[in-house]
Amino acid sequence: MTKMMHCAAAILLLCSAVPIALAITDGLLPNGNFEAKPKASDLNGTQVMSRYAIPQWEISGFVEYIESGHKQGDMLLVVPEGAYAVRLGNEASIKQKLKVIKGLYYSITFSAARTCAQDERLNVSVTPDSGLLPIQTTYGSDGWDSYAWAFRAAFEEVHLVIHNPGVEEDPACGPLIDSVAIKTLYPPKLTGDNLLKNRDFEEGPYVLPNATWGVLIPPNIEDDHSPLPGWTVESLKAVKYIDSDHFSVPRGKRAVELVAGKESALAQVARTVPEKVYALAFSIGDAGNGCVGSMVVEAFAARGTAQIPYESKGTGGYKRGVLRFTAVAERTRVVFLSTFYHTKVDGSLCGPVLDDVSLLSVRSPVLRG
Ligand SMILES: *[C@@H]1O[C@H](CO)[C@@H](O)[C@H](O)[C@H]1NC(C)=O
Ligand SMILES: *[C@@H]1O[C@H](CO)[C@@H](O)[C@H](O)[C@H]1NC(C)=O
Ligand SMILES: *[C@@H]1O[C@H](CO)[C@@H](O)[C@H](O)[C@H]1NC(C)=O
Repeated sequence: MTKMMHCAAAILLLCSAVPIALAITDGLLPNGNFEAKPKASDLNGTQVMSRYAIPQWEISGFVEYIESGHKQGDMLLVVPEGAYAVRLGNEASIKQKLKVIKGLYYSITFSAARTCAQDERLNVSVTPDSGLLPIQTTYGSDGWDSYAWAFRAAFEEVHLVIHNPGVEEDPACGPLIDSVAIKTLYPPKLTGDNLLKNRDFEEGPYVLPNATWGVLIPPNIEDDHSPLPGWTVESLKAVKYIDSDHFSVPRGKRAVELVAGKESALAQVARTVPEKVYALAFSIGDAGNGCVGSMVVEAFAARGTAQIPYESKGTGGYKRGVLRFTAVAERTRVVFLSTFYHTKVDGSLCGPVLDDVSLLSVRSPVLRG
């Protein structure tokens, strides 16, 4: 008996001490902000000359180590966090080994700025998943945006690679990268009082503490692991994930700003019973970020549509909207988009905020009379 207990205790200790203690924690990756510098002898001007010169990272190709305030032609490069960032030239990449828990979902957040190239994209990968993120459209006002991408850990140890697949005439044309962070995602389960998962958008990618520009959730073109569990971004452009530390949010700590008009749509598929009547209810508002104008959020489900207008003064606020519809299948896709584009005075894209979405079956209305 005592022997067995000892044995159980030993196993417990082993299990809890070994894999979990070593797995990565939420937040910036080690030297994720590139503030730990390469040795001067590993730099030629801004070019990083050896593979392991940047602490914690492995590089390949033409990678530059950029200090904030660095001038390139007549362009002054600013860095969103701290004083340093890297630039990925033609076919260049940065890589870091991560200890993760096999089977769990993780979301990567990083900041990027495009420079002079025409069609800038980044290939983010963790074997066997990869995603090609377009960074052509700039949403932030200072050129920097944060992006999220998610993967499911297939191994205990994985390599995160951020690669610039572009080839430009000028090798110094290529995106700047800063603030690479990770967050474990706990995909929310259905709770019984709602047919949608993650209805409040509370589960999502890591938001960098100083990122006053939110995190872009790119359209899911090549992978099916969403950094916003339960939801997918359809169409061509991203939606923006915002938090209550930096924005006005209708409920809880997180919400989504529909920043790309009809070019981005947020969707989720729910189980429904054909012929039953449902109510899709949601909050729409503004992020309190100076996005002023007459906004309209469109909701679609089965054969139903609703257009909910909202007058934004850009100072925060929200209202409720409802779409009632009759299900026609066992699965119903609910979709939200912004009818119009909106811009702030500085020219950056913005739009209505969506939050607190619920989908409930409505008791058959009593029509007899
Ligand atoms: C350093 O860069 C300059 C200019 O780009 C180049 O001419 C020189 O060969 C480089 N030095 C080394 C050691 O690669
Ligand atoms: C955020 O910004 C503040 C003030 O500018 C600065 O002191 C702090 O170090 C920044 N934090 C990070 C994580 O960059
Ligand atoms: C992105 O990177 C992955 C992993 O290296 C690779 O398999 C994939 O082909 C790349 N995609 C593009 C479009 O470069």
